[in-house]
Order: sequence, then structure tokens, then C-alpha cells
Amino acid sequence: DLTLRSDELLMPGSVDLHVHVRGLGLSYKEDVSSATSEAAYGGVTLVGDMPNTHPYLNTAEAVLEKLREMERSRIDFVVYAGVGSETKKLDAMPIAGYKVFPEDLERPELEDVLSSSKLKILHPEVPNSLQGQRTLRALWQELASLRLVRGRFHVTHCTSKETVELAHGSGFTADLTPHHLLLHESDCWDKVNPPLRDETTRRALWDSLWVAEAVVSDHAPHLPEEKRWHYDICPPGIAAISFTTPFIYSLVFRGVLSVDRAVQLLSKGPATILGLKMGEIAEGFAANFTVVRREYWRYSTAYTKASHTPLDGYPLNARVTMTFVQGKVAFDGGEVYPVRGVNAIA
Ligand code: NCD
Ligand code: ZN
Ligand code: ZN
Repeated sequence: DLTLRSDELLMPGSVDLHVHVRGLGLSYKEDVSSATSEAAYGGVTLVGDMPNTHPYLNTAEAVLEKLREMERSRIDFVVYAGVGSETKKLDAMPIAGYKVFPEDLERPELEDVLSSSKLKILHPEVPNSLQGQRTLRALWQELASLRLVRGRFHVTHCTSKETVELAHGSGFTADLTPHHLLLHESDCWDKVNPPLRDETTRRALWDSLWVAEAVVSDHAPHLPEEKRWHYDICPPGIAAISFTTPFIYSLVFRGVLSVDRAVQLLSKGPATILGLKMGEIAEGFAANFTVVRREYWRYSTAYTKASHTPLDGYPLNARVTMTFVQGKVAFDGGEVYPVRGVNAIA
């Protein structure tokens, strides 16, 4: 029985297109249950899982193993594969698409991935490497000219307004992360990919909130001790899957964003990028929703093994008080429950 208070909104569950759930050989950093519990705590009802785990998800065998492991997911999910030599086999499997990392640009197998009809998730330009920027820009131009035959492309974690404009100009969709909107390179020493930008670039990125198709967390958990290593060897990544939804609804409660725009960024936009229609979500993914309360609190994570994030203590005006997956209570404001999520692509 669900009774809403006058300071609560009943919203569609958030779809986070870009999450490193980890698991398999990286379960010591994060596993399916810790990542998806953290997600339910943050109002996320569907995650897109990135392939850079151990083993790397670019073989049919590894992807099958991952899909089996994801049966423990407490929220709905999709899995992306990586660039490798088994794309033809992977194309026939229930995966959402492929993640193309900057390193993949050199690989001859990239060609098969680019000609797949599934979704391709691309990195934006890498600002600290001129070489990298040129290669990516050339790839984008090539893809833009061939996009009609080659299917859908999406540029993830754009760090500048220009990158979003370039993505849209190429006919691609684009997303942003809360940390690139909130943190700049000299007020945060946490290492993350793509790197945090200077203050002017960060401020200008806010213009993109009105045109980007989605907001993603790029939840990239590492153990607290790994994040204390020397900068040169410290693994990049900020673990904040539970931050995105209360952050975006804080902007709604502060009068910065409309409810429609928030739903677009958190649910409708990312669902459309995955090829899931809101109607299909309503039918096939019965009752994935979340309750958001207008409340002042300071952000903290709850279930991730990563524990530390630079967003710890960030003041928010919205808090997730309930999450429903497949019509069942996955988070009730106090505890998470082992609801069984499904593969949205299967
Ligand atoms: C990613 C991770 O940890 O998996 N880290 C990150 O900072 N986004 C890997 C990566 O994209 O470099
Ligand atoms: Zn990345
Ligand atoms: Zn990532």
C-alpha cells in the first residue's frame, strides 16, 4: 500500500545507461548485489553494465557468464560487450550494444562493432591528449557520414558543451555525469575518466542539461585503499550510482529543471537510447518507479563497496524514499530487498 505525502513525487524509475557493476573477477571492488542495492537506494531501476571486468566481456563465453551472474541483479539491467573478435556471435546474444574505449580505436576488430546494428557507446574527445582528440574526431566524422547504414551511436560522459554539440551535430545522442557538472579539476583531487575540466568548461556544461538525452552516473567503484594509492597508479573512477536521481530532483525542487526535463534525462531519454519505449517499460517492465521526497540532507552512499566518493556530504534537496522494481519494493527508505530484476533486452 503506497500513500504519498504532500512533499513526495511518484516518478518513473531511473535508467542509468553507464555503470560499472563489476562482478566476476572484480567482485572484490563491487559485485552485482552491492552495485544494484546501491542503485535501488538511489532510485535506479535499470542499469547498463560496462564490459571492462575480468574476464573482459568481448567473448561469447564471458558474456554468457556475465548474463548468468546478472540473474542476481536486484534491478532490471542490460549488458554491453567490448570490442573483440567475436562480434558476429555477440550480435546474436541478448546484449544492448558495445562500449568503444579510446584504446579500441587502434584495433582492427573495431570495424565489425561499428557495422553492428546494435547501440555503440563512444567516448568523447579526451582533452589531455591531442593525439587522442584528433583520432576521435576523425572517427566521429567517419561515423557521421556512414550513420544511416551503421545504426545508433551514443557519446557518453561528455565533459564540455562543445562535445555535446559535436555529438548532436554528428547525429549522435549524448549524456552527462553529475560529477562533471559539479566538480572542477582544481577543487577535487579524485582521479576519474574522462578527467574533470576547468571551472569555465564546467560552468558552460550546465547549458547542456537542457539538450542532452540522458544523465548517467558512470559509477566506477574501487576499494577505498586503491583510491588512496599515489595518483599515478590510483585507478580512475567515482562511485556514485545513488547520487544522480536525488541530484536531478534537487534541481526540480529548487526550480532549476522542470519535472518533464528530469524524467527525460533520467528515464525517457536513456530508455529510448536503449530502444525501450516507455510504453514497453510500462508493460514488460511492470511498475518500475521511485518515490522522491523534498528533503534537505547530505549525500552518502549506503551499499557500494567503494564507500568513498568526492560527492560525499554534498547538500541535496531531494531524497529517494522508495524504489519499486517489477512492481515489488526494492528499497523502502530503510532497507533494500532482493527483488529479481530482468534483462531488458532479452
Ligand atoms: C572506469 C572504471 O573504473 O571502470 N573508470 C572511470 O574513471 N570512468 C574505466 C575508465 O573509463 O577509464
Ligand atoms: Zn569512460
Ligand atoms: Zn565508465
